[in-house]
Amino acid sequence: MDLVAKYADRDAGILDVGGAASVLVDHLLGDGYAHVSVLDMSAEALRVAQARLDSRSAEVNWIVEDITTHPVWVRSACGMTGRFWTS
Ligand SMILES: C[S@@+](CC[C@H](N)C(=O)[O-])C[C@H]1O[C@@H](n2cnc3c(N)ncnc32)[C@H](O)[C@@H]1O
Repeated sequence: MDLVAKYADRDAGILDVGGAASVLVDHLLGDGYAHVSVLDMSAEALRVAQARLDSRSAEVNWIVEDITTHPVWVRSACGMTGRFWTS
């Protein structure tokens, strides 16, 4: 989280590529990041994170895609202008 805070404002678009069921998204929401996306080709992995976050899951842009085949689409969907973050 220190690395994220160093480079990203709270209103920055952050994309966790291959986020799976990682708790990074929990920490991002907890620290006030408002535009968080989590991408993974495994819908099942994302469902684990969504269930854990419960109602806060609605604050996240969940993307089930293969990043190697949809990089341009992902940038557009997330409204991202700069860096890609991985957990
Ligand atoms: C080892 S897990 C990492 C989970 C999480 N980032 C963490 O730190 O706990 C790797 C994840 O990347 C996803 N993944 C691998 N290749 C991918 C790709 N090309 N596009 C999207 N997701 C991918 C897998 O489905 C898997 O859930």
